[in-house]
Amino acid sequence: MKLAQTTAQNSFKYSWLLGRIFPFIKPVLGRVILGFLVAIPVGALDGVVAFALKPYMDYVVGQKDLVFELFHRAFTISASTLALAIPFAVIFFAVFQGVLRYLNSYLTDWTSQKITNAVKISLFKKLIYMDTSFFDENSSGVIITRYLSDPDTASAGIVNNLKTIVTSLFGALSLIAVMLYSSWRLAAIGVLVLCVAFLPVALIRKRIKSTSNKNMVIGGNITTNFNETYSGNRVMRAYCLENRQDKIFEDQIWKSFNNNMSLVKRAGWMSPIMYLIASCGIAIVLWYGTSLITSGKMTAGSFASFVTSLLLLYKPIKTLGNTLTSLQTIFVAMGRVFELFDIEPTITDKPNAKTLNGLNSSIEFKNLDFEYVPNHPVLKNINLKVNKNETLAIVGNSGGGKSTLVNLLPRFYDVTNGAILIDGTDIRDYSMKSLRENMAMVFQDNFLFSGTIRENILMGNPDATEEELNKALEYAHLQEMIEEMPDGLDTYLGEKGMTLSGGQRQRVAIARAMIKNTPIVILDEATSALDNKSEAVVQKALDNLIMNKTVFVIAHRLSTIKNADRIAVINEGELTELGTHDELMSIPHGQYKALYEMQFKNQEDAVVV
Ligand SMILES: Nc1ncnc2c1ncn2[C@@H]1O[C@H](COP(=O)(O)OP(=O)(O)O)[C@@H](O)[C@H]1O
Ligand SMILES: [Mg+2]
Repeated sequence: MKLAQTTAQNSFKYSWLLGRIFPFIKPVLGRVILGFLVAIPVGALDGVVAFALKPYMDYVVGQKDLVFELFHRAFTISASTLALAIPFAVIFFAVFQGVLRYLNSYLTDWTSQKITNAVKISLFKKLIYMDTSFFDENSSGVIITRYLSDPDTASAGIVNNLKTIVTSLFGALSLIAVMLYSSWRLAAIGVLVLCVAFLPVALIRKRIKSTSNKNMVIGGNITTNFNETYSGNRVMRAYCLENRQDKIFEDQIWKSFNNNMSLVKRAGWMSPIMYLIASCGIAIVLWYGTSLITSGKMTAGSFASFVTSLLLLYKPIKTLGNTLTSLQTIFVAMGRVFELFDIEPTITDKPNAKTLNGLNSSIEFKNLDFEYVPNHPVLKNINLKVNKNETLAIVGNSGGGKSTLVNLLPRFYDVTNGAILIDGTDIRDYSMKSLRENMAMVFQDNFLFSGTIRENILMGNPDATEEELNKALEYAHLQEMIEEMPDGLDTYLGEKGMTLSGGQRQRVAIARAMIKNTPIVILDEATSALDNKSEAVVQKALDNLIMNKTVFVIAHRLSTIKNADRIAVINEGELTELGTHDELMSIPHGQYKALYEMQFKNQEDAVVV
């Protein structure tokens, strides 16, 4: 599933999208509705000012007393009272509207942040259970954009924009009501013109979608570029790649600029066109209104009210137009977010998965084929049985498939054909949690989390006693290093543990594996970053780690390999030789023999002498 290639295909299915986001809105629905309810008067109060103009013009300016009937009694309000009351009423309404506005924006922000958080948390839960191959295929930048920025755009915007639509809609409706009250004929013309003015919005939504999708990819590339500049900083400086990184960054920035401008070019004429149509409406109304007044069908006050409403109407209408446009962007982001929710990991537990409780007899690779990319086999027909407490060394050409083979054991990937059996049961029948709880892995490049050294080691087993921790430190040859650290075991390691050397990180990872104390141990070039002196010491530690364990060890150091119970040679994805050191050495022109003579012999000399 390549995230950069998705198209947000559901982004025009508005009811579907609203249906999908509804479960996230539901917990805060009460406050969302309250916010909307408050938004209605906020908008509608716009009409009050325009409405007040009519009595002001007709009675105050016209020096007439207002006479009206209520509960069958006649009331009279003098023109001078009205002259005082109306301005006060306007201020009163403004204060009232202000309070409602505050309430409204508080409620909107509160609810939209709650909804965004709920979406982000659910998405992150999905992300951490995603297949390993998902992370092979997608760059860090695209993942960050898709899992962090899109939910922000999608859910923060939705409440805010719906609220704006409600406010503007009711603002517009109240003004239209005033217009209808003033003169239905003129109002009919006004509403008709408005409808025409909105037509262009529908025309550009496709354009908005493609622009938004392109921006997502560009945003991802930019973030990836930042990540690489961070993680690859030393390589960048060492190979003078500053210009390259800078160029990639600037290219993407300008690409984003061009992308946005192409939308502006096409969408920018919308507002002027709408304005033009609205102006035509105003022109018609003025002309027609004058004739209505001269023929006595309308008072000057009604006309003033009407024209004010019409002019005031421009603001909510413009807001509606803009909001409908940005709502398109939000719907596209929502389309992308809900696509993510629909990606299901392929490597999952079976419904009635068994629990693996330690290893009883053997681990068997049976007629195993594996390919990362269809039709590019990486491992071909591997048949191999490793008995309990046996140590199997794996050697072979680089890129031959050694790491791939051991990565299949914890189900980072599932086999393409054949199976891996633990105690005769397919590993796909065990729960992944129990499977992985029985394995400890040390890699060539070991990831440490930001946190203290202690925290990183205890990740192997949070319940380990202080005694077990000290034993692991001793065996991993870490004590000396830790004594030199400013805060000892509680020294804080930055992101990726970058402040440690490769060898130090490897030893922390070995301690983490030791403290996990599992029946199965996988060492993938686990001592490659150690110098000869610490390697010799750590080797002893590893001997402790692997005692009475079933071990897969990929190594190029002779000592590790020679001590293994058996050695498997994997060349170009095939198991070509299998046996003890002596057995393999006795094969004339054997591959192991050749490797040994070429590579290991020098090492042996170096170590022995
Ligand atoms: N995540 C991956 N996606 C696609 N191909 C991969 C991936 N990891 C490794 N490969 C390919 O699989 C082959 C075996 O790689 P690997 O198992 O790492 O070899 P080894 O550990 O023996 O050096 C190589 O050709 C490599 O390019
Ligand atoms: Mg490897």
